[in-house]
Amino acid sequence: MAESPRVSGDALPVASPSALPLADLYARVSGHVPAIEWPALADDVAAILALKRRRNAVVLAHNYQAPEIFHTVADIVGDSLALAREAARTDADVIVLAGVHFMAETAKLLNPDKTVLIPDPAAGCSLADSITAADVRALRRRHPGVPVVTYVNTSAAVKAESDLCCTSGNARAVVESLGAPRVLMIPDEYLAQNVQAELPGIEILSWAGHCEVHERFTPADIREVREAYPGVAVLAHPECPPAVVAEADFAGSTAMMQDFVETRRPAQVVMITECSMADNLAVRNPDVAFVKPCNLCPHMKRITLGKIRRALETMTHAVTVPADLIAPARRAVERMLAVRP
Ligand code: 13P
Ligand code: SF4
Repeated sequence: MAESPRVSGDALPVASPSALPLADLYARVSGHVPAIEWPALADDVAAILALKRRRNAVVLAHNYQAPEIFHTVADIVGDSLALAREAARTDADVIVLAGVHFMAETAKLLNPDKTVLIPDPAAGCSLADSITAADVRALRRRHPGVPVVTYVNTSAAVKAESDLCCTSGNARAVVESLGAPRVLMIPDEYLAQNVQAELPGIEILSWAGHCEVHERFTPADIREVREAYPGVAVLAHPECPPAVVAEADFAGSTAMMQDFVETRRPAQVVMITECSMADNLAVRNPDVAFVKPCNLCPHMKRITLGKIRRALETMTHAVTVPADLIAPARRAVERMLAVRP
């Protein structure tokens, strides 16, 4: 049975990549980037570091970004919650969001006067695509008076129809903060079911949205890993189906998985989540053996060093949010950021 998720999400402090010679940056990722590929990547890294200085820009990178982004050009790395918090704090003029579109849109909501760039605007999310603002209005009509908690993996239009947002790092605390007997938690059905298992006293209604990466894991996958690697610690993301979470030793956001590895220091661990998560943690934790199966997020993988470089060279693609959505969507995100465990 999985342990209860703890609320987490503070950004991981990274040594400023700008302060390190390229050879030291390569040393960080040499386990994941073949030496023959490094010269081409190093050219992009050097250009990005120079462009960041020129533009007064920061790169925020999600934990699922490839190691050559995560460990060489990112100023702030973390889970969705940490990236939202850091986006609210930064004094840079330009934010490059190395992640998917909803993350860049959230950064823009919190910084409407700054330039927020997404290196590939097609980097979407199956959860964000699963629900529209009209769907939320219809749910409200069907369940009058029931508060709506919307996963941050949604469009600004959906956030604007919501009472407040949550991430996988604070979902339970957000639902509890409402003190309501019934809560609509949308659009991730599995996250809602996993939170429901933690909060039997609250009725949680959901939506049939799923993460295309996490829905592919099965309880049989976990049993096979345990058989092949006796004693392995199994950490699952709460976007996985409840039957998968029930087989895991721990479930939590990507930042909470990182905390688990870095505080408990298991000899062997498998991360039931996106592949780059383990690669990035392996760089920082060479004494831990990471077992993979994992699934790739095709949206996260649209972001490359070359596209980050082009974004900063050409100042594209700037994220915009329709003026009438900014205030209500921002309110939902800020209400979430005000919730503390
Ligand atoms: P985290 O908030 O745990 O980083 O998850 C974001 C996400 O998209 C997971 O699929
Ligand atoms: Fe969306 Fe899933 Fe990719 Fe996360 S891993 S961005 S939830 S599709």
